[in-house]
This record gives sequence, C-alpha cells and structure tokens, in this order.
Amino acid sequence: MSGKAKIVVVDDDATMREALRETLAGEGYAVLAVDNAIQAIAELEKQEADLVLADLTLPRVSGLELLDSIRRQWPGLEVIVITGQGSIETAVDAIKRGAYHYVTKPFTPDEIIHLVGQALERRRLVHRKERLEEEVSLLRGAHQLVGQSEPMRRINEIIQTAAGSDATVLVQGESGTGKEIIANAIHAQSRRTRGPLVKMNCAAVPETLLESELFGHEKGAFTGADRRRIGRFEQADGGTLFLDEVCEMHPRLQAKFLRALQEREIERLGSSATIPVDTRIIAATNRDLQKALEEGVLREDLYYRLNVILLRVPPLRERMDDVPIVAMHFLRKYAAREHSSMSSIAEEALNVLLSYSWPGNVRELENAIERAVVLGKGDQLRAQDLPPQVHRGGDDERPLIPAHLTLEEIEKLAIAQALRLTGGNKSEAAERLGIHRTSIYDKMRRYGIEWNPQPENVAQ
Ligand SMILES: Nc1ncnc2c1ncn2[C@@H]1O[C@H](COP(=O)(O)OP(=O)(O)OP(=O)(O)O)[C@@H](O)[C@H]1O
Ligand SMILES: [Mg+2]
Repeated sequence: MSGKAKIVVVDDDATMREALRETLAGEGYAVLAVDNAIQAIAELEKQEADLVLADLTLPRVSGLELLDSIRRQWPGLEVIVITGQGSIETAVDAIKRGAYHYVTKPFTPDEIIHLVGQALERRRLVHRKERLEEEVSLLRGAHQLVGQSEPMRRINEIIQTAAGSDATVLVQGESGTGKEIIANAIHAQSRRTRGPLVKMNCAAVPETLLESELFGHEKGAFTGADRRRIGRFEQADGGTLFLDEVCEMHPRLQAKFLRALQEREIERLGSSATIPVDTRIIAATNRDLQKALEEGVLREDLYYRLNVILLRVPPLRERMDDVPIVAMHFLRKYAAREHSSMSSIAEEALNVLLSYSWPGNVRELENAIERAVVLGKGDQLRAQDLPPQVHRGGDDERPLIPAHLTLEEIEKLAIAQALRLTGGNKSEAAERLGIHRTSIYDKMRRYGIEWNPQPENVAQ
C-alpha cells in the first residue's frame, strides 16, 4: 500500500454516509461513498481499495451478501460492518464470514477512526507478509541447485567461494546445464544481493548494437540515438552483470570490454567522460573454451581476465546419479503448478530416464517432466508419459540417418532436431550444428522451418 489508503463506504442512509465520508476524509483517507452494494462492487471492480465499511441493512443486496462476494473476489480486502442496535447476532455472523470487525450504531467518530486504523494496519501486515513469502520462495526456488553428485557438490562449493568474493567468474557448460541458475545463485548469496543483477545475452543482441547495449550512449552518438541510454555495464553498478554467451561478442568489442574490466570504468558511446563502475562480472559460454581460444572467437587476454574463478558445469550424462533427484524436484514443482496429485516416478519410467543421454541436459529433463505431469494421470509418472525421444533411448540408438532421405532433407531434419534440443534457441542450435548463427536463419527461411515449441509439431 502506498499513498492514501482507499476506503469504500456503503450506507443507504445519506446522513450517516456523509458523516462517515467527512470523518474519514478528515483523517487523510481517500473515501468513496455509495448507497448500495451493487454500486460498491462496481466501484471495487473499477479500482482497488483497501477497506470497505458497509452497513448491514442495505436495500436489495444486503451487507452480508456484499461481504460474501468481497471475500470471494478480493480476499485481501478488509471489511468492517455497521449494525443497528439489537442485530448483534448478525454482526457476529458477519465476523464468522470474514469481516474484520463490526461497529454498533450509534458510534463516535473516534471509535470508527480507531477501528479503521487497525484494519488498515492489519492489511498492511498481510501484504508485507505475502511479499516476504514471495521473496523467500523466489530465493529458494529460483536459485535452488538440485543435485548430490560429486561434480554438483564441487560446484556448490565453488559457488560459495565465488559468492564470498568479487572475483570475475567464467561459467562453462553445455546448453541447459544450469549456467544461468548458477549465476543467480552467486549473485543472491553475495554481498551484492541488494544490488541489481543485470543479464545480457551477447548472442541475442545484433552485433551492431552490442557495444551501445553494453556501454550505453549519449544522445546523438549515432543515427537513431535520439536519447541517452545507460548501458548494461553501468546499470549493474553495485551489483552483478551476467554476460551470457560471451564468445559471441566480436573480438574487437572483447578488447574494449577487457579494458573496462581492468580500469573499472566505462565511457558511453559519443562521450569521452569516464564513469567509474563497481560491477561484478559473471560470464558464461557453452563453447569448448580450448577450441574457442584456438579459433580466436575468445580473446586470450579476456579469457585470462574472466577466468579468475572457472566453473565447469558437466553435462547431465556425466552425472547421471543426479537424474532421479532432479526429476523429483521438477515433478514436485510442476505437480504443484498443475494441481496434480502426481507424486512419484514409476520404476519403469525411472529406468527410461536413466538410459537416456540428455543432450539438452537439465533443461531437457525439466521439459520432459513438465510434459509428463501435464499429460499424465494418477499418482505416478509413468514411462508412457515421457516424450518419444526419451523413450527411444535417445538419438544414439536409432539408425543415424534414414536411408531414403536426400541431403537437403537430412539438413532440414538436423536443424529441426537442434532447435528441439535447444528449446528453440537459434544461436545454440547453430552452435550444435557447427554453423554460424546467421546461417541457421538463412536455412530456416530456405527450408520453411518455423520453430514451434510444441514437441508434436516438430519433425522427429
Ligand atoms: N542443478 C539444477 N537444479 C535445478 N534446476 C536446474 C539445475 N540446472 C539447471 N536447472 C534448470 O534447468 C533450466 C536450464 O538452466 P539454465 O537456463 O541455467 O541453463 P544454461 O546453462 O544457462 O543453458 P543455456 O546455455 O541454454 O542458456 C532452468 O530452468 C534451470 O532452472
Ligand atoms: Mg543460459
């Protein structure tokens, strides 16, 4: 609640209505006074309120009925009912149905002011509690790295160490291994947690815009720069910048980025003023670092600078003992979301999960479990609820290429598969296929491939 608290007064007695309006407005509340319940509901639908003060004996729709519909539609809204003498039983009934309190006529302005103050304080506390609970669950859920395998334990140790320092971190791992969730965890546990966590995916920003996206620009720095823009580096001042797919940054820009890292200051494009920044960098890549260095897509000097703490996240197939626990984690998550009673994994289904190689790593496992929870019935996740490619034991066990296909058809299938395995991420799909990310767009256009995330619609 910010600003003035809003109170809706409902009373068919004009004198009482005006008296209440005056008293409450005099206390600085925003008051809206109406003479019937239907109008009250119409007003509540138009704008949010904090408190309703309603007479119980209203024409047509009674105060109790109004109370019931408020409880149903706006459970957080507090209601105080006003009763005449002798109707104390109705007042008690109102409390049972969820009213905050009642006042009996006649009452003094002070009585009503006091009661309204209490009801609003309670609403404020309930609000605050809800917000805190949300934050806690976000902190727990969003950064919870599940896994008990030896590599995961080691990763958790490194996360702790990294969170305790300001050192630059380089996270390397295949697509879907959890690089971003690791960056979240480091930021959340670091002393910068109250500062911003700014994310930038270098593959998602067109190359020509990357520099201004990173460093910002002054008005008029280039055609189209019609206003000043603060770059991500500067936005993350006092916090953390997560620089995803760092190898997709042009080596020339990598050099500039390195300088900014070393000097701890930036210049916006179109300005020569240097701006000091206190930004912690976590960079990530799904490329093989050795190869990226050899091919020159990652500058060696930047690599050494980033690599103060190197976190290699192994693919899921190299830590298969994590599969059951991670699968259960997602089962609980999606069963809760879907209000499903599914709470365990049938043994046969578990065997299927354990004999698949998970080329899309944890993300692919998450998608498979989500789908199974949505499609499946009953208390157990069954093998038949898992997606077909998981069933077949993965791509490895099928004949590599069906015999009757033309080269074009094979290329088309390979692209569709890469898109499926990367959840539609075109730069990752290109990476998997060993082609440049612009070529995948070309080929998708040429073959008329439209990425559609429903597994049913993708060539398998
Ligand atoms: N150890 C884990 N425990 C729980 N959830 C995980 C774990 N690892 C990954 N996830 C989940 O898997 C999904 C993919 O993770 P994330 O986006 O962090 O991967 P990534 O390595 O950044 O992938 P990409 O390279 O494709 O960007 C997310 O929904 C994430 O929450
Ligand atoms: Mg990622």
